[in-house]
Formats: sequence, structure tokens, C-alpha cells
Amino acid sequence: MSSKSNIRDVAKRAGVSLGTVSNVLNRPEIVADETRERVKSAIEEIGFVRNGSARQLRAGTSQHIGLVVLDVANPFFTEVARGVEDLANQAGYVVILCNSDDSIDKENHYLQVLEEQRAQGVLITPVQSDASYLQRFRQRGIAVVLLDRPSRIKDLCSVAVDDVRGGELAAAHLLEGRHQRIGFVHGPISIRQVADRRRGMIRALKTAGLDPDRAIVDIPTHAQSAREGEECLAKLLSSGPMPTAVFCANDLLALGLMRGLIKQGISIPGDMALVGYDDVEFASVLAIPLTSIRQPKYELGRAAAELLLDEANNPTTHQHKHITYQPELIVRDSSRS
Ligand code: RIB
Repeated sequence: MSSKSNIRDVAKRAGVSLGTVSNVLNRPEIVADETRERVKSAIEEIGFVRNGSARQLRAGTSQHIGLVVLDVANPFFTEVARGVEDLANQAGYVVILCNSDDSIDKENHYLQVLEEQRAQGVLITPVQSDASYLQRFRQRGIAVVLLDRPSRIKDLCSVAVDDVRGGELAAAHLLEGRHQRIGFVHGPISIRQVADRRRGMIRALKTAGLDPDRAIVDIPTHAQSAREGEECLAKLLSSGPMPTAVFCANDLLALGLMRGLIKQGISIPGDMALVGYDDVEFASVLAIPLTSIRQPKYELGRAAAELLLDEANNPTTHQHKHITYQPELIVRDSSRS
């Protein structure tokens, strides 16, 4: 029989009531062993598949949570997703991964799909800095936790890393290496992480008594990808006196820029010191191991998932939290003076 078989076909094949089939599916522990095995055999023989959507509609919710990230190809989000999935799986939840590609329209589309799928909650790294638009989901009973983004809203949980401190660590490290003119290669400044990392750079430069407007060479890119990192080299080389160091807003940009510098015969760190951000897995194994600002990626994802499931399952007793992890400077050959 086809997978369109229904619960009645199972009951008829097994010679039991509809209620018994329902118990085998939902509360197998209360069904006698022989009856349970007979129903399971009938399910196998006719190829019955439960209708998850119908079950969700009846229950008004699902065992799904949504994870909406900016760039699914970025290994940062892969490691974050691992932390989310490990905890969600242990709790019996399925994670629906959505890739917004920094696009507000794509993000809105996925949020609508997750609502239609009766997701119990959504973990999201919002495209926009102002996340107040997400309150509409919470008003409709869908828990929301900001991931990799601090929250300004008291009852909107968040798990983030102090990116201002991260940018400060990167710039301070390069200043210790006597670099006074530093390139900042970054994606759209509308991305809160990027803006915070630049704020941290400015804090370090001011602490060192330097004028940020003169010391920073801004090299904006359309996206935070390796391709954009390689392609931005031309802008860097034509931006007046060449900086002797570059801080990239993430490791993908640094990876691409490293490839471009090597192709141009520009030595790293001799001619150009390089610092990335995230400390993803490849950073330490590159031909020139990359100095980076480590984010606790797995912990970020796990902590966000824990907060989300607690809010979804205990809405009246849940305590909203804003967790901020601290970044760490990991010095390697790409900037070692
Ligand atoms: O825009 C994505 C970047 O922000 C990632 O590389 C990671 O650094 C996140 O914090």
C-alpha cells in the first residue's frame, strides 16, 4: 500500500481499534507487547507514515525549533549550529536550519514558514540591528532568542559575544606590533557584529593616543566571504599609503585576503600582518596560521538553545537572560612580530 495509508488501514490490518493504534504511536508503554508488535508489523507491511503536519495542527505546536543564521556557508555558524542541534536533539526536538544570506526578505520568508510549521521557538541572528520586530512572534506564543546578538529588550533573551572587546583585542594586538595604520576589512556596517568590532578598534586606537580617522583604512565588502576578502585587495592597495596590518571582521574575509596577498607576493606578516575573527577550524591549519579572535561558538549555540527550550516549555516561570561571552585573542604566525 502507498505511504498515503492511514491509521484506519493499520487498525484493520492489525485487527485492533483506532485507539490502540494511537496508543502504539504515542504511548507504546501502555500497550501489551504482543498487540504492540502486531500493530508495528501492520505499519511496516502497509508503509504507514505519520502525518506530522496534521499532528502539529491538532497539538497547535510541534517539536521543531528554527535556527535562522546569516550565512550557512560560514563555518562560524556551522559550529554554532552544532551546539544548537546537540542540545535540541537531546531534548527530542528537530532543528530547521534557515539561511537569511543577510537578506531581510529571506529572513522574513523563513520566519513566516517557521510560524506556519508551528515551530515552538526561533533562534535568530537578525539581519537588522533593531530586533524589536521579532516581538510579534513572542506575542503569538513562539519563543525567540537572539543568537550572536546582544538584546536591548529586557524580556527578549540573547546570547552573544562582546564584539566591541573583540575588536579592541585585535587592534591592541596590532598596535603592540607597532602598526599605526590598520586596514579594517568588513561586511555591511549594518551588521551589528561588524559595527561593534569597529567600535572596539576605535577604543584601542584612542587608548593608544591615535586618531582613528587617520589610523583606520576602511575596506567595506558586500559580504563576509572568502571571495570578497580576496577581491578587496585591489581596494586595499589603492587606498593611499598601504597599511602594514589588516584586521578582518571574520576569518573567511581573512582567508580570502591571505590568498590575494600571497598571489601578489606580499609577505605575511612581514609586509602585511593579518588578524581574523571567529577562530574557526581552518584558522590554525592555513599555510600561514591565522591570528584570530576566538568566539565560543559551540557554547553560544548550546546556551541559546537551552534558553529557547526553557522559554518554550516553561513560559510562566522562564527567567529571561542576556548572556555575554568574552572573546579571546589567539596569536599565530599571520601577525606574530
Ligand atoms: O556576519 C557573520 C559574522 O558575525 C561571523 O563570521 C561571526 O563573526 C559572527 O559573529
